[in-house]
Amino acid sequence: MPENTPAPGSSAVPAADTPASDAVPHIEFSDVLKRFGDHTVLEDLNFTVSPGERVTLIGPSGSGKTTILRLVMTLEELTGGYIHIGGHPLQYERRDGRRVRISDKMRRRTTTHIGMVFQHFNLFPNMTVLENLIEAPVHVMGLGKDEAVAKAEGLLEKVGMSAKQDARPTQLSGGQQQRVAIARALAMDPEILLLDEVTSALDPELVDEVLGVLKDIAAETDISMLIVTHEMQFAREVSQRVMMFDKGRIVEQGAPEKIFSEPDHRRTKDFLRAVL
Ligand SMILES: Nc1ncnc2c1ncn2[C@@H]1O[C@H](COP(=O)(O)OP(=O)(O)O)[C@@H](O)[C@H]1O
Ligand SMILES: [Mg+2]
Repeated sequence: MPENTPAPGSSAVPAADTPASDAVPHIEFSDVLKRFGDHTVLEDLNFTVSPGERVTLIGPSGSGKTTILRLVMTLEELTGGYIHIGGHPLQYERRDGRRVRISDKMRRRTTTHIGMVFQHFNLFPNMTVLENLIEAPVHVMGLGKDEAVAKAEGLLEKVGMSAKQDARPTQLSGGQQQRVAIARALAMDPEILLLDEVTSALDPELVDEVLGVLKDIAAETDISMLIVTHEMQFAREVSQRVMMFDKGRIVEQGAPEKIFSEPDHRRTKDFLRAVL
């Protein structure tokens, strides 16, 4: 009897829509240690974020939230442990039992599709809104100018900023600048979006327009997100999980309904009482 050779297109081969990478976390912190000088900011930190998952980090000022995001963005050097992005080592890997720094080229390859929006508007001040959006797609991703412009125009429409595409950042309100910053991050087709208190520096009447844009993105895309925010209602609406930090450690974590309504820990209760 000849071997039973499957015909092309038969189901003998695993379907292409169930890649093994589905099981790999988008973000994985393993025994992460971060020190600034002799000040230990993060220690023994372990957590994962699944593909498409949106996780909010809460906790008092100085608890290490921004440092976590900056580590993922490789804006900070990891002191100990490992971070993997989609299974790829970000700064260090274990090779033959040793912790080895990976090449800058590999780092850049892994971080290309990670976007970050900061508390303080960080658009390029000498460029127009449109130029801000096409800069990285052209120079980092190698997109053609026309294609980058078309994409940028689509994104500006999405965040309600089409009318301002030729404006300079200084001519925009804070809320408008943050919407452009979000569009700029999206222009790199991020698989991971890091949001660090993106509404904290805004006048109160401008907060909702920015949160509205983020809610739309959360509803319409499967981008994984790490979100630092004091907007608890927003966190409740968009995130599947909340992690409460204190002094660089996870105090507790769980679904937003649980953490916001019936937290187990005293420190979480005190923190929520202070911010709500
Ligand atoms: N570049 C730095 N140099 C020295 N210490 C820093 C630096 N960045 C952050 N820290 C310290 O790390 C701790 C955590 O800061 P951060 O991650 O900004 O906390 P959070 O975002 O939760 O307020 C704080 O004690 C802060 O002073
Ligand atoms: Mg911070």
